[in-house]
Amino acid sequence: MARIPLEDNFNDVINKAQRGLKMSDAQLAERSEVSPEDLAAVKSGVILDAIIRRIARPLRLSADALEALAHKRFYPIAPVFPRGFAMFNTPHGDMTVNSYLIWDSSTRVAAAFDTGSSCTAMLDTIAAEHLSLRNIFLTHTHEDHIAALPELAAATGAEVWASEREPVDYPGAKAFKEHAHFHLGELAIKTLLTTGHSPGLTSFYVTGLSWPLAIVGDALFASSMGGSPDHYAGQLRNNHDKIFTLPRDLVIAPGHGPLTTLALEKKHNPFFAH
Ligand SMILES: [Fe+2]
Repeated sequence: MARIPLEDNFNDVINKAQRGLKMSDAQLAERSEVSPEDLAAVKSGVILDAIIRRIARPLRLSADALEALAHKRFYPIAPVFPRGFAMFNTPHGDMTVNSYLIWDSSTRVAAAFDTGSSCTAMLDTIAAEHLSLRNIFLTHTHEDHIAALPELAAATGAEVWASEREPVDYPGAKAFKEHAHFHLGELAIKTLLTTGHSPGLTSFYVTGLSWPLAIVGDALFASSMGGSPDHYAGQLRNNHDKIFTLPRDLVIAPGHGPLTTLALEKKHNPFFAH
């Protein structure tokens, strides 16, 4: 797979934090002690290191991580799963969205996480690996993540599952609570409620593969996180309490952008590297 670009630029991160904190440009300029002109330049993507570092403080972002993101000094490299894991990256409008497949290597039972805009490649993998798809788990129900749900469910007969708190418009969909457990052969899947971006946004913590894995939807991205203008504090807290407390060698599989690890995000994510 070609290298997937980071989902957000440094100015996207600034804008997400500013919207989440409900801080006007005038307030941010004043608290950062930068001119309105410099603030406007940075927000439109001009890289001015000293200004970026000053703006980071009132937005409670890591200045080092934000500056590194601006200069694209970092790209995450996650360890490879030798078996039992596949990532799919499909186009949706002018962006791309990720979906994932995991399976137990001995029993060949599998689960999908979101569907992307197309499930053709996922169905090819299911056939090539001789898998039986038991569950389709939804991180959340924004259109880009579930566009191929009717096709994938019809082709496989798999059960569709989402959080009881997430609005789901799919007949027969089942609802789980937080801390539900599912098993696929030797694999265990635990649901973690990491809401903010959407009301029932769920991260799935998977153990039993070569590395601990969290499929997080839009709760968290490599070097950023999903937009959550009205529940920003809650999204930060949920990520902090429920994802950043998992093992450091955790592989993080986000809804957009590349795979990453918890250790890398602790160091490089402007929202969490403190
Ligand atoms: Fe999304």
